[in-house]
Amino acid sequence: MNTRLPVYGKAAPKPVDPSLDLEEEIKRLKVEKNAIILAHYYQDSDIQDVADVIGDSLQLAQAAAAAKSDVICFAGVHFMAETAKILNPERIVVVPDMDAGCSLADGCPIDRFRAWKARHPGAVTVSYINCSADVKSESDYIVTSSNAEKIVAAIPKDKKVLFAPDKNLGAFLAKKLGRPMELWQGSCIVHETFSERKLIALKERHPKAKVLAHPECEEVILRMADYVGSTTGILKHAAASPEKEFIVVTEPGILHQMQKAAPDKTFIPAPPEANCACNECPHMKKNSLEKIYLALRDLSPRLEMSADLIAKAKIPIDRMLALS
Ligand code: 13P
Ligand code: SF4
Repeated sequence: MNTRLPVYGKAAPKPVDPSLDLEEEIKRLKVEKNAIILAHYYQDSDIQDVADVIGDSLQLAQAAAAAKSDVICFAGVHFMAETAKILNPERIVVVPDMDAGCSLADGCPIDRFRAWKARHPGAVTVSYINCSADVKSESDYIVTSSNAEKIVAAIPKDKKVLFAPDKNLGAFLAKKLGRPMELWQGSCIVHETFSERKLIALKERHPKAKVLAHPECEEVILRMADYVGSTTGILKHAAASPEKEFIVVTEPGILHQMQKAAPDKTFIPAPPEANCACNECPHMKKNSLEKIYLALRDLSPRLEMSADLIAKAKIPIDRMLALS
């Protein structure tokens, strides 16, 4: 008896010939469709290796703004692809997996964000790029972890600042700039998983290692860091440093480029609290070479947004790009 029932409302997965050389096929499709692949550092290394640009959120937004191709395939998460579409309304933006979300963006729904803003009339709203296009469209400034300090510092001191949605990045900035801000209570499920106890133990085992951490980590972790910065900041710092050993407190996808940039150095990924792989971003890891191949072959799934939303969300992104 056939026990496989049809699933309604969801298209059946498209078969991929297992004998295909996916890297070669992706290369061919990029030429055929006049497409580029933008990939975040947290992507698997095989995806990074087929990408045209690999970067942090700011570099990927800048690459999207400069794109000349007909098609952009975004190997990252949904809010990043949305930013690429906002900057390229006339180009096709495809995403390998539409379900690749982000705990920060998902934890800041527009109705609650609006209500929060309404409770603080006259405040300047600064939103981390890890938020939905709806939230962007109602923010004064968008920032990434590599330009947030500069942008917040440029806001007149007499203005109250609302910072969403990452409370850890917000608290880090408030402390560094000596400027209190109202913080949205969101966080990254990946960066909150790092364990202070295990990091202390790791430092004891590697006394010469320098700790490099992302500002999405909690304060207890950031206090132990020798350097705090965006993924690109972490990569550049490690490559330029005279030190030879580093504990890396961010998603371990970054290690691929770190090892390429400094093959003579040792990079140790920081462990999560539990015995799990929860320091890997489950959203970023939804993408695969196979899904990238399908997205380029079928030019689907495509990101579509209303012209009105694009126009409104573009304003604070353009402000950010002008200040970066
Ligand atoms: P950056 O690469 O901009 O530092 O951001 C890290 C991140 O968590 C992206 O989702
Ligand atoms: Fe979002 Fe964290 Fe994943 Fe980045 S690592 S996409 S902030 S859940």
